[in-house]
Amino acid sequence: MDGNGRWAKQRGLDRIAGHREGAESVRAIVRASREIGIKYLTLYALSIENWQRPKIEIRALMALLGRFLKSELDEMLSNGIRLNVIGRIEDLPKGIKRRLKQAMDQTAHNRDMVLNLSLSYGGRDEIVDAAKRISLRVKEGALTPEEITPEIFSAFLYTHGMPDPDLLIRTSGEFRVSNFLLWQIAYAELYFTTTFWPDFRREQLLAAIEDFQQRERRFGMTGEQVAFARKE
Ligand code: FPP
Repeated sequence: MDGNGRWAKQRGLDRIAGHREGAESVRAIVRASREIGIKYLTLYALSIENWQRPKIEIRALMALLGRFLKSELDEMLSNGIRLNVIGRIEDLPKGIKRRLKQAMDQTAHNRDMVLNLSLSYGGRDEIVDAAKRISLRVKEGALTPEEITPEIFSAFLYTHGMPDPDLLIRTSGEFRVSNFLLWQIAYAELYFTTTFWPDFRREQLLAAIEDFQQRERRFGMTGEQVAFARKE
């Protein structure tokens, strides 16, 4: 969700005004995703590296997150949305952690869509955390090195039990992945747009999905094999 700062700067506003408008895009995109039947939506809200930002900005982001959790809970409950957090949740302020836990508990039985918030998230850190937990299992004798397959490895990631993303969208004209879901995006389609996140709403999401629908996903196979597999 990149470009909040530049969106604000273009309008002579402070960065926090950009994040505030960005939070409105979060609301719009969650709603639109649910309406069109997306099953998993993952939003990169805060990276591990983002903690280095000025304290005032971090505080504003946490306040927006807290407000979002409060204002959207009812909608999540009535729309079958399950909230989940991926990242080092332990790094977050106590009040936010409590609110996240409450929202996750209350929405735990919802089945229509998973809203994954990436908070204090880093793709490499996630992989390292998984490697540590796997080595512990090996040390305990619960797993042998030979048993470690990509599927087993995935089961130790924050996203265990969830499918890999089909589409990765990055806003604001940056052509980078920035440590996001490094393992999971192996076969994701990448979509880059110059639109700043605060301007990324339903219409822009639908345009990204239309673009995605034109792609031929081969997963290493030939186009003919894919066409054949589709007919089967
Ligand atoms: C990146 O834009 C954006 C962030 C680091 C924060 C994203 C947060 C929100 C959209 C609002 C709060 C979140 C929720 C879930 C309610 P940037 O600040 O790096 O933009 P810039 O590159 O233009 O400076």
